Amino acid sequence: MNIQSPPTLAESDPLIAGALADEKARQQNQIELIASENIVSPGVLEALGHEMTNKTLEGYPGNRFHGGGQFVDVVEQAAIDRAKELFGAAYANVQPHSGTQANQAVFFTLVKPGDRILSLDLAAGGHLSHGAKPNLSGRWFDAHTYTVDRDTGLMNYEAIAAQAEEIRPQLLIAGGSAYPRKIDFARMAKIAEKVGARFLVDMAHYAGLVAAGAYPSPVPHADIVTCTTTKTLRGPRGGLILSRSDEFARKLQTAIFPGVQGSLHSNVLAAKAVCLGEALRSEFKAYGHQVVANARRLAEVLMARGIKIVSGGTDTHMLLLDLSPLGLLGSDAETALAAANITSNKNPVPFDALRPSEWVGLRLGVAAATTRGLGEAEMEVLGAVIADMLEAAAAGVLEEAAGAARKKVGALCERFPA
Ligand SMILES: Cc1ncc(COP(=O)(O)O)c(C=O)c1O
Repeated sequence: MNIQSPPTLAESDPLIAGALADEKARQQNQIELIASENIVSPGVLEALGHEMTNKTLEGYPGNRFHGGGQFVDVVEQAAIDRAKELFGAAYANVQPHSGTQANQAVFFTLVKPGDRILSLDLAAGGHLSHGAKPNLSGRWFDAHTYTVDRDTGLMNYEAIAAQAEEIRPQLLIAGGSAYPRKIDFARMAKIAEKVGARFLVDMAHYAGLVAAGAYPSPVPHADIVTCTTTKTLRGPRGGLILSRSDEFARKLQTAIFPGVQGSLHSNVLAAKAVCLGEALRSEFKAYGHQVVANARRLAEVLMARGIKIVSGGTDTHMLLLDLSPLGLLGSDAETALAAANITSNKNPVPFDALRPSEWVGLRLGVAAATTRGLGEAEMEVLGAVIADMLEAAAAGVLEEAAGAARKKVGALCERFPA
């Protein structure tokens, strides 16, 4: 059918148009504290919604399986060049459709089914794609985990080294989705080297902070680094693979295509190029440092109110609350904050129960709120509201507290449009 003058989405598909409008309003009218979220720029959105999405291509710039790829080549090459410059990498692959697929491609490159991998335990902040049982990585590899110190909540490098000696993994993995502290990547690299393991860092959560110089870079230390372009990097949904050398370049290229993916998502590549270009600017450096300052301030405010923070603080955009002293579950806390129009997620704390319904942690992240312009003064307001709501939930008086809390959050939302 030749669509001469396409109707608006509201006319052609009111259900979806309505959901999109509602989602936009939701984002404006609440404060987002899910640590893996952010608010992308108009430039990233424009690229995502561009006609470039119509283009099918496989392969890499200058070597495609379909014609007509000359403009996508410009976009992909720019994304590669910008990723290399931003992270000081010799190699970059910008095609992974997700962080999980970036990790799969690394497995394809560095290990074989049955090999031993050693990664951070899920409850201690690891990620499903690093060998968790329900994930393909947990089925195909002999997966082992290290954890954090029970008292400090910090990675214990001596214990990890001893475990690595015992397990002799082919691949050691650092990084995760709820470890809020700096990781000593040089130390981890030494542990890997000593046992003859390759070393992968998944910096999905930290990538934007690394780009800004607000968190240590793993690139000089790891054999391969993966990340998502979402979260602190403030780009579209997707992944990146980086390496300090070209040693694995050929294998990684074929691991992504045709190894674990088919055609590329041309419009997403354009959005990745835009976000990487933004991250190269000095404003982004200031943003990354403000994110960490905000997270630290929020942690201080909560701790001053007697709330337990795993590891006693943060070096990143996120903090992990242990609600067990309040007698609350993570799901209770999520509901309590939602009643104040603050969005968050339940999370395990180290050594927590296996079932999500029994977790006693809540993960908070300030990357999106910082993009809206909230600073340390606003973290004090937000911290007080969070503490009020958690205390109210613990005392069984949530309804009574919610009205005043919603007003304070609403005022922040109005002052700082999404
Ligand atoms: C550390 C880490 N790695 C990988 C991923 C997976 O990324 P994706 O959801 O794009 O597959 C995440 C996701 O949140 C993550 O936190």
